[in-house]
Amino acid sequence: MSTPPIPPEPLTPLHKVAVVGAGAVGAAIAYASMIRGIADELVLFDVNEAKAEAEVLDLRHGLQFVPSATIVGGGDPAVCAGADVIVFTAGAKQHPGQSRLDLAQSNAALCQSALPQLRALAPEAIVLLVTNPVDVVTMVAQDVLGDPGDRVFGSGTVLDTSRLRVLLANRLGVAVSSVHAAIVGEHGDTSFPLWSSASVGGVPIHQVPTAAGAVLAEGELGALVDEVRQAAYRIIAGKGATSLAIGLATARILEAVRNNERAVLPVSTRHDVEGVGPVCLSLPAVVGRGGVERSLDVPMTDGEREALHRSAATIRSVWSSVG
Ligand SMILES: NC(=O)c1ccc[n+]([C@@H]2O[C@H](COP(=O)([O-])OP(=O)(O)OC[C@H]3O[C@@H](n4cnc5c(N)ncnc54)[C@H](O)[C@@H]3O)[C@@H](O)[C@H]2O)c1
Repeated sequence: MSTPPIPPEPLTPLHKVAVVGAGAVGAAIAYASMIRGIADELVLFDVNEAKAEAEVLDLRHGLQFVPSATIVGGGDPAVCAGADVIVFTAGAKQHPGQSRLDLAQSNAALCQSALPQLRALAPEAIVLLVTNPVDVVTMVAQDVLGDPGDRVFGSGTVLDTSRLRVLLANRLGVAVSSVHAAIVGEHGDTSFPLWSSASVGGVPIHQVPTAAGAVLAEGELGALVDEVRQAAYRIIAGKGATSLAIGLATARILEAVRNNERAVLPVSTRHDVEGVGPVCLSLPAVVGRGGVERSLDVPMTDGEREALHRSAATIRSVWSSVG
């Protein structure tokens, strides 16, 4: 007897994705999304109208080489009307010597003032926060929009996870796509790896040999995590902003939404962390057309639980301080 086919999911295509903030990150997200054919219409909105219009022109001039899309933008938020997804990148960025948490006060205030108008223009939109500190900003956005659920979430540690996988792949001599390892918690200095569930081809990470035949020592794994935590500081010191990889990471999240993939990605959503309370942070979550469907209850060692607690307490205390 043959297995009956699984009926296809009713898909609602992503007609319109609006990127708010046409700075280095917003432009990179638009560029990556355009190449991957994420939406029929891509919109860039920035209070700096000239910047938004210039980025739109620059992107449009590449339309010959990508899947067809309409690309519009400007300095009037009305361009975001009816969007299926709003990607929020507006606000202050880190300068050399600043941590992401140093941006909390100003970016939380910006979020509080900008989001109600955007919600009125696009009442059904999924809101994907990228502005830093992304976990705090996601909490503020959920509070402002009265939506602590699935449709308002942050890019979280999707980028940090990619950074770790690239480093591990290089060190172990395997393809990045064959490395299964996640950075979770805060997108920031208290982020941490889930080594206890990390693997390559089903082999636990502590047992995977490099091409030279030796397994990675605890210290080497720790050094890779330090490199992930320092990556943004290093890039900002060299070029003023991190942009290209977050562009690709965000386009990947949008793709999971567009295709209703139910892809497991470490995006930032609200969790009730024991001893801390509700807080937005990243744990593996199922992402599809409705946003975040659910989070997976990952088994953790005592050390990983402590690290999660530390991340949660840090985010929650900064969130409390921004009111
Ligand atoms: N989540 C992540 O993984 C990640 C990675 C990199 C950067 N970021 C964050 O993304 C944010 C943007 O970084 P960037 O390098 O693009 O900064 P940027 O300074 O280049 O761009 C920010 C843009 O926001 C615009 N803006 C300000 N207020 C606005 C408003 N009310 N409405 C619309 N636009 C407004 C500014 O005019 C500016 O063009 C920062 O907070 C940065 O820390 C997050």
